[in-house]
Amino acid sequence: MTETTKQSANTDCLQEQLGYTERVKKLISKRYAQQPLAFVHTYGCQQNVSDSEKIKGLLVSCGYEMTDSSDDADFVLFNTCAVRENAEDRVYGHVGQLKHNKRKKPGMIVALCGCMTQQPTVADKIKRSYPYVDILFGTHVRHRLPEFIYRHLAFQERVFENSDSNNDIVEGLPVVRDGTFKAWLPIMHGCNNFCTYCIVPYVRGREYSREPEAVIEEAKQLIASGVKEIMLLGQNVNSYGKGADHGVNFAKLLRMVNDLEGDFRIRFMTSHPKDCTEELLHTMAECDKVCLNLHLPVQAGSDITLRRMNRHYNSQEYLKLVKTAREIMPDIQLSSDIIVGFPGETYKDFKCTLDLIEQVRYYSLYTFIYSPRKGTPAAEMPDEISYKEKSKWFTELLERQEQISHKINESLVGKTFKVLCEEKGREDGHIIGRTEGNAVIDFCGDESLIGTFTSVQIIEFDGSLKGIKKY
Ligand code: SAH
Ligand code: SF4
Ligand code: F3S
Repeated sequence: MTETTKQSANTDCLQEQLGYTERVKKLISKRYAQQPLAFVHTYGCQQNVSDSEKIKGLLVSCGYEMTDSSDDADFVLFNTCAVRENAEDRVYGHVGQLKHNKRKKPGMIVALCGCMTQQPTVADKIKRSYPYVDILFGTHVRHRLPEFIYRHLAFQERVFENSDSNNDIVEGLPVVRDGTFKAWLPIMHGCNNFCTYCIVPYVRGREYSREPEAVIEEAKQLIASGVKEIMLLGQNVNSYGKGADHGVNFAKLLRMVNDLEGDFRIRFMTSHPKDCTEELLHTMAECDKVCLNLHLPVQAGSDITLRRMNRHYNSQEYLKLVKTAREIMPDIQLSSDIIVGFPGETYKDFKCTLDLIEQVRYYSLYTFIYSPRKGTPAAEMPDEISYKEKSKWFTELLERQEQISHKINESLVGKTFKVLCEEKGREDGHIIGRTEGNAVIDFCGDESLIGTFTSVQIIEFDGSLKGIKKY
């Protein structure tokens, strides 16, 4: 598709949906005496949180007011996650409870969207077993929500749409942002990596990058509105721009955002180690607004497991990358994702993961017990270790990481950091601030500091970091 046709298709699509928002507004003004309330609950990753901000933007454009409670909502929407079985179970449980809400409030509209609903088997199950779900739509058609609400209201239709047409980035959608000083900025969608355990490529489709101009324009708007921290989002940001003819790769994009005027900082996630280049590491070091923080999911320490996961690197290559990152940025803090109990993983393999985390010394870890996902290659692999045994390994990993994080936190005592003040502390008159390396510090400060940068010296670590504000 050429640039012009892509853009005009995008504009047509946006105009069509904005047309539907007007039609929905008219219908709901007849149906409700007061402005109806909408509730959105989000499961899963930051990508989903960011999608929900656009969904809320569309709902508000349709005439709804957002509420924090599903009890008094006239429209309830769950934006779902399929990454692990427990994420899906939670959704089914919560959807089950909505039956009672709907009984109390028969006119309530129930909608489901997101990664779970993109799977045809899930959509079929919902259609059959949850008759009170009125609207279901997948990840590729979420911008068409106004049309779906219109069809439901005008024709009392149950609307189920989860086709997987790609090239689904519609620019210019309205957004209701959750925060005022921290913002998500998606730069790409989908994933081409097909790690053998992962459902994401199946439910999010192929990688597709936004145009650099669109990203920069959104970043400018965020900065102008007072945002102090921008998180650039993608399943694998290091693939940004691949296949496009504008020649802007992720490192270049990072530089472009960094060059924008303003007092703000930049984070990004997620970086796939196989695509993490020295160019990117040097760019991070040279860009003053980019946080010295790298989330670099390793998943496992055993080379056999990594190969079977289709990760395209081995432990030595990964450790070399970490060494290079630290040579270029000695103060960088690292974090990672780890899967425990991948099919075929032995205790000896798991020990390699323990060895690796000792060598890398991550500041924090996101740890998961392997969960088979139907349709992925790993779900067909023999898996002989019991869940109970995997849970033991999991605890061992958590304990080991706890010791590492503890030591790193102790080493921070005495140092002074620029922090972004994020929220009130547990005690009155206290504030929580976050360093660029993601250390969370509690210190005495006024609430008016929230949303601003300040300097804090860490004075103590007693399980959590305590500091004092520097003037
Ligand atoms: N794109 C990102 C992460 C996406 S999902 C990346 O590649 O790093 C977030 C994390 O969930 C993954 O890094 C992985 O650790 C975990 N995960 C994905 N599928 C899983 C599964 N089937 N079972 C357990 N954990 C899983
Ligand atoms: Fe899943 Fe791998 Fe893609 Fe991350 S890179 S979303 S783990 S397939
Ligand atoms: Fe879940 Fe979809 Fe994110 S499966 S982790 S919400 S991309």
